[in-house]
Amino acid sequence: MHSAYVYSYPHKLAYGPLDPPVELAPLWQREPRQQLFLYWHIPFCEMRCGFCNLFTSIERKAEPMAEYLQALRRQANQLATIVSPCQVSGLAIGGGTPTQLPSDQLESLLDGILQWPRQLGGDFSVESSPATATPEKLFLLRQAGVTRLSLGVQSFVEAEVQAVHRRQRNSLVNQALSNIRGQGFEVVNIDLMVGLPGQTVSSLRRSLQSALDWQPEELYLYPLYVRPLTRLYGEHNGCDDGDLYRSGRDFLQEHGYEQVSLRMFRRRGGPGGCEYADPQRPMLGLGCGARSYTRELHYSTPYAVGSSGVRRILRAYKDTQDFGQAHFGYRLDEEERRRRIAVLSLLSEQGLDISAFPEFLSLLQPGEAEGGRLTSLGLERADQIGPRFFSARVQQAVLAGARE
Ligand SMILES: C[S@@+](CC[C@H](N)C(=O)[O-])C[C@H]1O[C@@H](n2cnc3c(N)ncnc32)[C@H](O)[C@@H]1O
Ligand code: SF4
Repeated sequence: MHSAYVYSYPHKLAYGPLDPPVELAPLWQREPRQQLFLYWHIPFCEMRCGFCNLFTSIERKAEPMAEYLQALRRQANQLATIVSPCQVSGLAIGGGTPTQLPSDQLESLLDGILQWPRQLGGDFSVESSPATATPEKLFLLRQAGVTRLSLGVQSFVEAEVQAVHRRQRNSLVNQALSNIRGQGFEVVNIDLMVGLPGQTVSSLRRSLQSALDWQPEELYLYPLYVRPLTRLYGEHNGCDDGDLYRSGRDFLQEHGYEQVSLRMFRRRGGPGGCEYADPQRPMLGLGCGARSYTRELHYSTPYAVGSSGVRRILRAYKDTQDFGQAHFGYRLDEEERRRRIAVLSLLSEQGLDISAFPEFLSLLQPGEAEGGRLTSLGLERADQIGPRFFSARVQQAVLAGARE
């Protein structure tokens, strides 16, 4: 089994057509809904970066985004009825790039989100990019109660971002970070990548230092994965055999950051969160490309990376009038639920309660975990350890999906 970024289980590549489709009303009524996580997906970006296989498309015109938001509003209204009564305890808007929406559309999206019944004090996270993190949009987000703003930077070395087909000037990145700090978000996160073409230990450390100049509460260090259907595929294989990653990790630890997971680092004493969602908390995903997690079923719209596939799926989403059924997903039985809880607990700070899940102990190699918690070696190997927890059915589906 190859390495995979396991941030949920089952992996999205295991999803397939649901025949017959699943009625969402009875499914959600069987689910506890007092601690709901609500995720909103905005599948638009100013560009398609050469490494990115997320569900998104290049869109700069307001009209197609407005049409998308209309469908999103229809879906949200219908699902609000389906899951009622509920309490939302965590919120995120991701993508793509949510701040790619024009300001008036972002404002109307936020108005819609704030109509959901919410528990006070929950986290509200939004992703943004340097070119779109404008003072006007950030102000709207802060006014709406956004607590965490995450900015994709990838590298402060311009030649390295250009080599992965991401047009980005450092002056713009620093302007965006100044705009973000100016709004006073509780948590600021910066995404950086390791293994970019031409990256060296010293250029990575320079990038990290430039990021730390802004004292982010969180920093994600993403090892570059080159995936099929991305522009980088066949062009570059990633240039890290682990040394670059380790030097970045050590640098962060020497500069006041604790390692939370393979990718996530948190400023010591700061308010940052955790990378892995509570496996017991249901997630309702709204928007095209969003996933939803219930105890019995994980579902989403179909997935694509290539631009024609993404456009086709987006068109079908915009035309949808009835969002009351799931057509694509993965059914979980008791064994899959155990695997899910085990792998997500192990990969998170919480750790795995070995006495409750003894059957998984043999999946760990010497030195990878202590008392159910990953050691430094285990954290570094998280992307090899995660897939060992996959059931045979998920493994086969992931392998088949990865070949498509
Ligand atoms: C939704 S994007 C972040 C926000 C915004 N769209 C941007 O790029 O500025 C999520 C993050 O995933 C990471 N990422 C995406 N594709 C990746 C890949 N193939 N390998 C490693 N990291 C990747 C990038 O660091 C990226 O910032
Ligand atoms: S990395 Fe961010 S900006 Fe680039 S294509 Fe992916 S979602 Fe869009």
